[in-house]
Parts: sequence; structure tokens; C-alpha cells
Amino acid sequence: MEKITKYLIVSLGLFWLSCSSDNEEIKTIVDDDISVVEVQASFEYTISQEDPYAILLENTTESDSDFSAVWDFGKGGEKVADKAGLEEVRYTETGEYTITFEATNAAGTSTATKTIKVEQRYGVCSTDGCEELSQNGLKEETDTFAVGVITQSYRINEGGNHTQVLKKEFNSLTAEYEMKMNIMYPSPNTYDFSAGDAIVDFAVANDMYVHGHALIWHEASPDWVENFTGSDAEFEKMVEDYITTTMTRYKGKVRSWDVVNEAVDESAGNPLRNSVFKQRMGDDYVKKCFQFARNADPDAILFYNDFNIAASSGKRTAIFDLVDDLGDLVDGLGAQMHISIDYPSTEDIQAVVDATVSRGLKLHFSELDIRTNLENDKNLSSLSTEKAARQKAKFKEVVNIYNAVPSENKFGVTVWGLRDNESWLVDFFGVPEWPLLFDENYNKKQAYDGFLEGL
Ligand code: XIL
Repeated sequence: MEKITKYLIVSLGLFWLSCSSDNEEIKTIVDDDISVVEVQASFEYTISQEDPYAILLENTTESDSDFSAVWDFGKGGEKVADKAGLEEVRYTETGEYTITFEATNAAGTSTATKTIKVEQRYGVCSTDGCEELSQNGLKEETDTFAVGVITQSYRINEGGNHTQVLKKEFNSLTAEYEMKMNIMYPSPNTYDFSAGDAIVDFAVANDMYVHGHALIWHEASPDWVENFTGSDAEFEKMVEDYITTTMTRYKGKVRSWDVVNEAVDESAGNPLRNSVFKQRMGDDYVKKCFQFARNADPDAILFYNDFNIAASSGKRTAIFDLVDDLGDLVDGLGAQMHISIDYPSTEDIQAVVDATVSRGLKLHFSELDIRTNLENDKNLSSLSTEKAARQKAKFKEVVNIYNAVPSENKFGVTVWGLRDNESWLVDFFGVPEWPLLFDENYNKKQAYDGFLEGL
């Protein structure tokens, strides 16, 4: 027994010795032949179900060795260390973003990249692209009223994006300022219709209506009219000649005119504005101008146009009193729609519709733009997604209300500008603003979708 025990101990000792030398051998093989392989960075992304502007990034790198990793979301910020779980990132500005994922281990660094496209009105585009809601222009989405926009003579024949968008989307044109008195009648007995002609000819050639804006407006009367040297009777004759000459020139081409613009004052009681026309022609100057216009072109649709009709019920009353006084000389009311994302209310806009319809007049939602920078923040550099959505909702509301107007009272909706950066409001308020349907690169905004959905 003792012999056996000794034998076992010796055998085990020998076995242990042989094993330990085997271990040494294996260890040497590992050190010599298995070096660390460079990690291959890889990631995937999916568009968030809850938020179309957000993506969820997933690190899909497979590696046996330890590695560290960082993200560059392509937005110009610092790189961000990868952490466990999905990384959620929001993109709110239109553009292309290259996302880079960098993985590093002992053997080196590798990089994976993917580029995503973001459109402000859709959010992050899927790999199939950003789905177009409609291939039609706005004008094809309704056949009960004209969809109009303003333009300037130098833009329309450039042949670029501006011209294309005008032709695709709109079927009514208005001159932003070139068919006002200071441009068409710059000095006594001298007319200049060159810019107006260019706009009207373009519209006629492209099967668009022209809405003439505006024959009489205190803000656009030339100096020589403001300081007219003749008698009151001569002044009135001059106004009659001007209205007659202008409307005769565009007879058959311009289907409608704002004969008088903004005659009602903003001050308490909303009296007739004390313009040179009122001073020289008397309190019934508006009526006289409408009579001259009716005589000059009996087929033209004649509008009285003003602002704050929805926002101020007092001014609304004064405007409808003036319109009532015009009787059959006026065919319609132009309600300028320089409004904001939360003002005026649906009810106040509807009140303008109801008052117009009850009088059997045509209604023009003229000069539509919707302000967003209500804080007058000079430092804003872009339209936030939140404001863009509210603006979309307001465009939809306005167009919805208009769409419900009885067809015999419908006339058109005119947007006061094509691209945000061209809007008169930028200069008028002196702060950044994005009030229109297209951004500065002619991309349709959410506002466009709002207009479309309203139709
Ligand atoms: C503005 C134009 O947009 C500007 O380009 C121009 O300098 C001044 O007039 N109400 C009107 C429009 O009836 O004619 C105005 O248009 C905007 C306010």
C-alpha cells in the first residue's frame, strides 16, 4: 500500500511537470501568432417613430478586443463619446449631414460614415427620399379661386427658380410695387408702364390672372401729387385721367383692381385717413375714384383693400361702412392678411368672411403672410421647428376658412411674397422673419403644406 501511494505521488508529480511545460509552449504560441485585429467601425440609424426630426443611432461594431468610440453628428459640434444604448439626435434645419462614427482599439482607428438629408417640412428623409405630398402646384389643388403671389418685373423673365415656381404654383400675379402711382405716374403728364407691362405680359403669356394693386394709396403717391400745384378741380381731373389711362391700358388683361387702398385710419373711431386725396377731392373721394374706375373698364372687378380688418372690430365696422356707401361701385373686399401665427383669432377672421358674404361681395384674402418672430428678436438665425409647425397650422386655418366661402363670393388668396428672404416684413419690422411658403432656397416650408392641406 505504501509502495502504491509513493508510485502515485511520483506519477502525479511527473504529470504536473509535463503539463506545466505544455502550458509554457501554448503561451508562447499565443504571444507569437495572435496579434490584435483593427476594429471595424459600423453603425446603423433609424428615423424616430415619435419625432420625424430625430434619428436613433446604434453602434453595430463587432470586435473581440476592447475599443472606444466617438460620434460626430455632422452638426459642427464636439465629438461625443459612444455610450451604451441608442443615441438620439435631432436635426431641425434643412440640409445634408454626414454622421461619422470612429472606433479605436490597440491596432488603430477606423471610421464609418453615413449622410442623411433633412427637409424642414418632412424631417429626416428616408432612404427612398422625401416623399412629395403633391406633384401639383397649389393652383391645381383648387378650381374655385385664384392662388396668387406678388412679383417684381426684374425677376420674372430671369428664367430661374423664381419664374419656374411662379408658373408651377400660382395662377394670379400682382406687382409688389410697380403698379402703384409713384411708379406708373412719376411726373406730371408722364406715365411709365414699362415694369407693369413686363409683369402683365408675363402673366398673360402664362395664362395667369393679374390683380392690379393699387391705383390710389396714400403711401405710394408721388411727390408731385402730394404737393400738387393746381386747383382742387385740376387735382380731381388729374386723378380721373390717371385711373382712366391706366385701366384702359390694361383692359382685358388685368381682371381686377384695388381701386383704393387703406383709406381708413387706425386712430380712434377709424375716420377716413387725411390723405392728399381726401383733402383735395373731399370726403367722397373714394366713391369718385370707384366711379372713374367703373367708367374706365366696366368689366374689371373692383376692390376696396385694407389691413387689420380681422384684428380690429372697430376698424372692420368703419371699413364695411365705407364699402356700404360705395354701393354697386364696389365688387369686393380685399382683406390684407398680414397676420401672425397666433393672431387674429379664427373667429375674427371668420367675422370678415361673414360680413363680406352677407353683403354679396367678393372676398380677396390679399397680402397673406404670417409672422413668427413675435418677440422681435434681432438675433434669431432660423425658424424653429416649433414655430414652423404653428405657422403651418395658421396657413391651414386661413386657407380652410377661405375654402368654405360660398363659391359666388370667392375670388382668390394672394401670398405677399415668394421666399422668406424677399418679404417686405424683414425691412418693415427690421428683425429676422420667415413669413412665407418657401425658404430662401425655394424649398417648400411646412407653411406650404399648411396651405395645401387647407385646400
Ligand atoms: C409693400 C411692398 O411689399 C414693398 O415692397 C413696398 O416698398 C411698400 O409696399 N400694404 C400694401 C402693400 O397694400 O402695397 C404693401 O406692399 C404692404 C402693406
